[in-house]
Amino acid sequence: MSQVESPPMNSHADALLTKIANTTAVVGVFGLGYVGLPFAVEKAKVGFKVLGFDRSEPRVAEVNRGESYILDVASEELKPLVDQGLIHATTDFSRIPECDVIVVAVPTPLTKNLTPDLQYVEAVSREVAKYLRPGQLVSLESTTYPGTTREVMQPILEQSGLQAENEFFLAHSPERVDPGNQRYTTKNTNKVVGGVGPDSLQVAEAFYQRTIDHVVTVSSADAAELVKVFENTFRAVNIALVNEIALLCDKMGLNVWEVLSAAHTKPFGIMPFFPGPGVGGHCIPLDPHYLEWKAREYNFATRFIALAGEVNRSMPRFVVEKAQRILNESGKALHGSKILILGMAYKRDIADWRESPSLEIFEMLQHAGVEVTYHDIFAPEIEIHGTWYKGVDLTDEAVKSSDLVIITTDHTSVDYQHIVDLAPAVFDTRNATKSVTDENKKVVLL
Ligand SMILES: NC(=O)c1ccc[n+]([C@@H]2O[C@H](COP(=O)([O-])OP(=O)(O)OC[C@H]3O[C@@H](n4cnc5c(N)ncnc54)[C@H](O)[C@@H]3O)[C@@H](O)[C@H]2O)c1
Repeated sequence: MSQVESPPMNSHADALLTKIANTTAVVGVFGLGYVGLPFAVEKAKVGFKVLGFDRSEPRVAEVNRGESYILDVASEELKPLVDQGLIHATTDFSRIPECDVIVVAVPTPLTKNLTPDLQYVEAVSREVAKYLRPGQLVSLESTTYPGTTREVMQPILEQSGLQAENEFFLAHSPERVDPGNQRYTTKNTNKVVGGVGPDSLQVAEAFYQRTIDHVVTVSSADAAELVKVFENTFRAVNIALVNEIALLCDKMGLNVWEVLSAAHTKPFGIMPFFPGPGVGGHCIPLDPHYLEWKAREYNFATRFIALAGEVNRSMPRFVVEKAQRILNESGKALHGSKILILGMAYKRDIADWRESPSLEIFEMLQHAGVEVTYHDIFAPEIEIHGTWYKGVDLTDEAVKSSDLVIITTDHTSVDYQHIVDLAPAVFDTRNATKSVTDENKKVVLL
């Protein structure tokens, strides 16, 4: 009796390319967070059926009700896609075989010792390996160090008995979403893709080309991983540079904002970066450490990363020290004073307060004996080391009764003129008050 022969190499790729071209490929998205949910919507909008996997039951239930918990995705956009059956969410990983493409967008945090914590990527890889079938494409979108897809994911996935490139395809395509950015969305932001081999690259490129205006291919998954970590390191280093200039300007009695804005008038050779109370979010404070850790394997010290981390991490303490100086000048002590922090999100007009420097400032002020409160319409409640705090309403009384208002995030919803008119003193770490009339010289800039 003749045995059924396994299909020749590339036939799986051909079949998948056809499904991608005629939009019949089912797309599985693992991790329905800041990255995964907008991605699911983008794919469903062009007609792909999307199955969203998340281990959080409440998130899955919200998606299936058509309710979005991510600022960049409107429920009005999500609900019709759910109603048409184009997006469905589940916690049931045994549905993996239904997918033709599996996109992984789970967190990649750091451990307490600032080393990569790949537990989520590994957990998803193990789940996928249990159900992997020939002809599927797995694409990792989480930010990580070069080598993760090939050295960590591939061996776990191959425990399924299937081989990458021959029976399934494996790629890395870093997500570049900039939460809150109205001009650059997933669709019009160039997307970098690298595969663990040529067939993986070909199918991954075809997949992303269906929804993204311009796909940039690189020669390996490792290169794609380094592209993303380099981009975030570039930001971290340049932000650290302007933060260092801000610290120097403070000593010299110069206005760093004036200096930078004049420097930015040079039409070439300079790029705007702004100082602030520190860096936050899931990317800039974390990703460079992924590279730093990996470089050690090559006995290579990434000195810029270490220095940038040091400068950026020093900013919250500088803010507290300068707040103390401001209070001293009006004869008040930090201890026993009332300080209102404006902004918990790590940047303007977004709801993400993960790793936000405002959290550290809040905590340091508390430890110094300050009666500290905060206001942020995007972050009504925050958690610091297991304790939850509620923000206060931005009432005239809340502003007037504070000894000092510290602007840590320049949300556009706040009337800064009104704050300056009412507050006894304002410490502005973002230059949010640049258009404000300050006759009584109440504002002190970073
Ligand atoms: N947030 C951003 O702006 C941004 C931008 C670019 C890249 N990234 C990268 O994208 C990745 C995801 O970040 P995010 O901000 O979307 O994270 P997130 O925390 O918003 O979402 C992650 C989701 O994954 C789910 N999850 C965790 N473990 C899981 C598992 N084993 N199986 C299924 N679901 C699981 C969580 O419940 C959560 O819903 C990270 O690597 C991050 O660095 C984030």
